[in-house]
Amino acid sequence: MLNEQLRDVLQRMPKAELHIHIEGSLEPELIFALAQRNGVKLDYASVEALRAAYAFTDLQSFLDIYYAGASVLLQEQDFYDMTAAYLKRAEADNVRHTEIFFDPQTHTARGVPIKTVIDGIHRACQDSPVSATLILSFLRHLSEAEAFATLEEALPYRDKYLGIGLDSSELGNPPEKFARVFARCKELGFRLVAHAGEEGPPAYIETALDVLKVERIDHGVRCLDDAALTQRLARERIALTVCPLSNIKLCVFDEMAQHNLLELLDAGIVATVNSDDPAYFGGYMNDNFIATFEALPLGLSHAHRLARNGFSAAFLPEAQKQAFLAEVDAFFAAV
Ligand code: ADE
Ligand code: ZN
Repeated sequence: MLNEQLRDVLQRMPKAELHIHIEGSLEPELIFALAQRNGVKLDYASVEALRAAYAFTDLQSFLDIYYAGASVLLQEQDFYDMTAAYLKRAEADNVRHTEIFFDPQTHTARGVPIKTVIDGIHRACQDSPVSATLILSFLRHLSEAEAFATLEEALPYRDKYLGIGLDSSELGNPPEKFARVFARCKELGFRLVAHAGEEGPPAYIETALDVLKVERIDHGVRCLDDAALTQRLARERIALTVCPLSNIKLCVFDEMAQHNLLELLDAGIVATVNSDDPAYFGGYMNDNFIATFEALPLGLSHAHRLARNGFSAAFLPEAQKQAFLAEVDAFFAAV
C-alpha cells in the first residue's frame, strides 16, 4: 500500500507530460455528446457499451476503437472542447507543462481540413493556464508519401506546433520507412520524436535514433532487451516517455508489478511518466504515478527524479526549463 504522504506528494508535485495523444483524451461521454451535436452515428448504443469495449489485447485492438472514437470530431469547436477538457484534467493533476500529440491524418482522411484541427487544438492551449505545445504525428501504417502530403498541408500553420512524431501500428512499420520525411522535418527545424520499442524490437529504437534523428523515444520500454542500447540511452541522456497504464492495458506487461520503470531508472535512463491515451487506459497523470508507485518499490527520491526528468526532457526554452526544475526542487525541499 502506498503511504498517504507519498500519495499526496505524487498528486501535488509539479509535472510535465510529454506523451499524450489528444484524441486519446476523448472520454466516452464527450464522444456521445459530439456524435449527437454532429449527427454522427456510432456503433455503440450507450456510453457504458462503448466503455465495455475497452478490453484490449494489443496495440492494434486499441487503435481500431481509438480511430472510430475520433470520427465524431468535425468542427473546430469539437477539437477545442476535447483539448480544453484534457487541459482541465491536466491542471487538476498539477501538470504545469504538456506536449500534446495530434494525428491530423485521422481527420483529413474524413474530409476535415487540417486548419480546423490545428486551430481548435491550438486555441484551447492558448486559453489554458497550463503551458502547452503541440507535436504533429504521422501515422506509420500510412505511406511516407502521405506523411509528406500532410507535412505540406500543415506547413502554413507551423507556428502552432513545434515537433513531429510517429505513432500508430508499430510492428511492420519501422522508423526507416519515414527516413526522408523526417530528414525534411529536421531541415525545417522541428523537434523530432518517434514511438519505438512499445511492441517493436530494440532495433526500432536504434533506427529511430540513427535514421530519423529523434531526440526522445516514446515508450522505448523494450530497450532493456539490448544491453548496449540501454547503456547508450543512459549515456546520451535520451529520454523515454513511458506510459505505465497504457503498457498494462495493451498487454506490453501482464501486470504493473512487472513493469520495468524502476529498472529503467536504475539503468540510468531519463525515464518519464505519461498518460498516452488517458480516456482509454484508465487514468491521467496522477493515476499513472499512483498505479506505478503502488505496484513497484518506488519512493520519494524516485518521485523527485521522475518529476525532474519530465521537465529536463521537455522541449522548453532553457530558462523556462530551469525555472520549472527549481520549482520541483523547492517542492521536494519542503516535503
Ligand atoms: N496512438 C495513440 N496511442 C498510441 C500508442 N500507444 N502507440 C502507438 N500509437 C498510438
Ligand atoms: Zn503514444
